[in-house]
Amino acid sequence: MPDFDTSVPHIARVYDYWLGGKDNFAADRVMGERTLQAYPNLVYSVRANRAFLVRTVRFLAGQGIRQFLDIGTGIPTANNTHEVAQRIAPDSRIVYVDNDPVVLSHAKALLKSTPEGACAYIDADLRDPDAILAAAADTLDFTKPVAVMLIAVMHFVGDDAQAGAIMRRLTAACVPGSHVALSHAASDIDAAQMAEMVRRLNESTAEKTTLRDRAGVTRLFDGLDLVEPGVIRAAEWRPDTDLEAASPAALWGGVARKPG
Ligand SMILES: C[S@@+](CC[C@H](N)C(=O)[O-])C[C@H]1O[C@@H](n2cnc3c(N)ncnc32)[C@H](O)[C@@H]1O
Repeated sequence: MPDFDTSVPHIARVYDYWLGGKDNFAADRVMGERTLQAYPNLVYSVRANRAFLVRTVRFLAGQGIRQFLDIGTGIPTANNTHEVAQRIAPDSRIVYVDNDPVVLSHAKALLKSTPEGACAYIDADLRDPDAILAAAADTLDFTKPVAVMLIAVMHFVGDDAQAGAIMRRLTAACVPGSHVALSHAASDIDAAQMAEMVRRLNESTAEKTTLRDRAGVTRLFDGLDLVEPGVIRAAEWRPDTDLEAASPAALWGGVARKPG
């Protein structure tokens, strides 16, 4: 028997439902539908978010990054970070972090590394960056550049001061030339529908979602150099096609480099 309460919706499984996955329970599907009815374009947002992940990992690999710290991994789906990175550079090393026992139970799928590279999984909380960094150091060499992937996870840290402190702690551990890739649910795109969607979500999920506007998301990158085109609708961040860019996704995204 699973050691989690399947009668309460959990964000990792609701997200899996939105993406069309199969690792969700009745309570997750009910919440998935209720939120979709409040904001039908949510389907575009979650797909655009995964596409953003793929494009940013590809970009980072192109910058010579061979180490990835992917926090808020989610239930494995198509194009997980290590698959994208190791397709380009088989020697890439990836550490996944999530605090959801369901993600942990699927971790095996995230650990199918190439022989040249490495994959590890840490069961930890984003709000405890010290624990994450200590465990990640078993797999990642922090004297070399690392990409910290915060894809659709910082909106679970509602307090701006705490979010800022987490960003500073994570980036302080990384050498110049390291990068942060981040996407975040938007309060200022389709504002009324997004607010209602989050109100429904927060009724019963344990991890509360806090939307931020573009300026608030941009502040998360303080102290880092934003890569062109800056913080932008995630679908418009270096899109592969015009069709991709046109996705109505209520999500801000950006990539930044640690200077020095
Ligand atoms: C919306 S999903 C995003 C998954 C993946 N990064 C993506 O973008 O496709 C958010 C994930 O973050 C995890 N998460 C939420 N709060 C967290 C926290 N405080 N610490 C670690 N993981 C967290 C959830 O369990 C879930 O798997």
